[in-house]
Amino acid sequence: MSFTIAIDGPAAAGKGTISKAVAAHYGMAHLDTGLLYRAVGAKVAAGADPLEAAQSLTAADLEGDLRTPAVAQAASRVAVIAEVRAALVDFQRAFATRAGGAVLDGRDIGTVICPDAPAKLFVTASPEVRAERRYRELAGNGHETTFAQVLADVKERDARDSARATAPLRPADDAVVIDTSRLSIEDAIAAAIEAIDARR
Ligand code: C5P
Repeated sequence: MSFTIAIDGPAAAGKGTISKAVAAHYGMAHLDTGLLYRAVGAKVAAGADPLEAAQSLTAADLEGDLRTPAVAQAASRVAVIAEVRAALVDFQRAFATRAGGAVLDGRDIGTVICPDAPAKLFVTASPEVRAERRYRELAGNGHETTFAQVLADVKERDARDSARATAPLRPADDAVVIDTSRLSIEDAIAAAIEAIDARR
């Protein structure tokens, strides 16, 4: 039977870590939908047309170094384009309904891509906590940046993702909100599994 778990939230709230752990816990496939937008953003930054880039996306485009601040900003700029979002819907829905169940994380999974998902989480944290986590991650990977720059980037992306007309970032009405600001990774994962078990 297919069972879809939708996990949404802003950048660096812990969605990715929680989604991977949840998928491993239930033995389900996992799709990081942000990678789709990052791949389109990277192609557009290299000169491609946004809609053509979205329509011609292949698995090979999801490889490579897409986890940079520049690609994140490029992703959030292409993500406001309704036609780009529409071009990525079928792939995400097909993934969501695969046998054995699937975990999808992103911004609009519970609201637009899988509004009927039985389990929905909205993972969030304060902008300062998220920026601190992202700053450590980037610095650890050798990126030259400052906390102030990362915080400004996080806030800019939040504002653009929340204000856009199509599929804005917001919790679905039936989502369980998990604020990870004061939670350890282990406690955040446990809270997610508890919320999902209650819907199974
Ligand atoms: O999650 P991640 O930080 O990789 O997402 C990069 C950008 O892609 C987000 O800032 C957002 O603009 C966009 N995105 C989206 N819808 C999704 C996933 C990501 O609009 N489902």
